[in-house]
Amino acid sequence: MVKITFVEHDGSQTEVEAEPGLSLMKAATYGNVPGISADCGGNCACGTCRIYVPAQWRHCFAEPKGNEQEMIEFSEDTTDGVRLACQTKVIEAMEGMVLNLPESQHY
Ligand code: FES
Repeated sequence: MVKITFVEHDGSQTEVEAEPGLSLMKAATYGNVPGISADCGGNCACGTCRIYVPAQWRHCFAEPKGNEQEMIEFSEDTTDGVRLACQTKVIEAMEGMVLNLPESQHY
């Protein structure tokens, strides 16, 4: 299991024990992270699983492209390091990772 901490906009934190291979979105929702809505269930169609990845953890993520990039653009969220949690799988290298969450997933 991989420890990942999600930080809400108000600074409150939820630490989850994530199974490698699971999407970050599922890891967050299984861990009852309040700031992830994931309205489409991981189909890259809602943009409500946005996370902000600090620079020191971006090596664990591919650059957003295709549907992920389109949904990020549709959400008009231009925050540095924005990604969709449903489009990245948990890997062992994420141990100790801290991710930030938007003030609201609905725009
Ligand atoms: S859960 Fe809908 S885009 Fe990620």
